[in-house]
Amino acid sequence: MSFQRVWVNAHLATMRDDIMGIVEDGAIAAEDGRIAYVGPRAGLPTHAADVTDCRGAWILPGLIDCHTHMVFGGNRSGEFEARLAGASYEEIARAGGGILSTMRATRAASEEELVSTALPRLDGLLREGVTTVEVKSGYGLELGAELKQLAAARALEGERRVSIVTSLLAAHAVPPEYAGRRAEYARLVAEEILPRAASEGLADAVDAFCENIAFTPEETAMVFEAAQRCGLPVKLHADQLTDGGGAALAARFGALSADHMERSNPEGIAAMAAAGTVAVLLPGATLTLRERHFPDIATMRATGCRMALSTDMNPGSSPALSLLLMLNLGCTLFRLTVTEALLGVTRHAAAALGLKDRGVLAEGMRCDLALYAVERPAELCYWLGGNPCIGRVVGGEPA
Ligand code: NIG
Ligand code: FE
Repeated sequence: MSFQRVWVNAHLATMRDDIMGIVEDGAIAAEDGRIAYVGPRAGLPTHAADVTDCRGAWILPGLIDCHTHMVFGGNRSGEFEARLAGASYEEIARAGGGILSTMRATRAASEEELVSTALPRLDGLLREGVTTVEVKSGYGLELGAELKQLAAARALEGERRVSIVTSLLAAHAVPPEYAGRRAEYARLVAEEILPRAASEGLADAVDAFCENIAFTPEETAMVFEAAQRCGLPVKLHADQLTDGGGAALAARFGALSADHMERSNPEGIAAMAAAGTVAVLLPGATLTLRERHFPDIATMRATGCRMALSTDMNPGSSPALSLLLMLNLGCTLFRLTVTEALLGVTRHAAAALGLKDRGVLAEGMRCDLALYAVERPAELCYWLGGNPCIGRVVGGEPA
């Protein structure tokens, strides 16, 4: 038997089990973009046309950043300074800054400009070994601009070797045209924006921001019901600033994930575990907003609620450009174990996107790989900055 490509002289963290599924002196073979063999080098049936000597590197499944707002106009470094001078995120949002300030810049940008400003941010992730990225809308807040943002996100896939997964987040904030008419805007999202994004094939999922400065649980439920009518899975920005019962709401709708969760209560977390809803932890936002409340990791562990870890890359609450840095913050801020953090950017991040063909190294899975010059996988979480990625493979081809 012969394979198109094999990688040898590598150690593997397959992420197949809860102790990282480690194979020392392993090998991987690819055929037609899929993993055809993964295991000890000694068990590799034969050799291949193309053999890569990994010189003792560690191979993980290509990393997955499962929560980003990577496509946006402008930036908010001015608000960063205002917060340093004492203003809060909530005060800035209520005064028409925050998400609405990015909305103005995003509406003003062309689709091409949104693509070209997102590319350097995307490239930073790819250099770290990321092979799949979720990108949300939510800075258009009107039909045309939301569709433009999603189209720009989709276009990134044509520019780089990466899988892009999109989420419609039109229920992110109330646009100025609907000031004081929040419920009416939520209805517009449910009845017009969402069905259009779905029918144009621009959205893979629907997200919402359930919060006292955004949408109520009832309005969120209305948007989720519309998503279900259109056959789209849902996700939720839940319980970030206050406990609005977001975790339980996400569970009730069988959401792929509930994200943030700084203030989610234990009953909501238990409901998520039972529903299979993944908790997406976003330590970049916790750090940037200097949050004192951390997600209840102990209850997530006790209930078996799966945890993913992501950048939340956005111009306001988390201007985080590095997923490797999030591994460190997940461990240092939230006290995740190294294994939990690494599962959070591989297997559990795939689950948060509903992707069953990636996130672990196993035969039949997409051959998306990340190669690192580290002595142990723990080093990926240990360094605060830096980038040991020495190779990336997408669909069986070096990228
Ligand atoms: O995930 N929480 C709401 N949405 C984003 C922040 C968006 C922004 O500040 O621009 C988040 O933190
Ligand atoms: Fe977010």
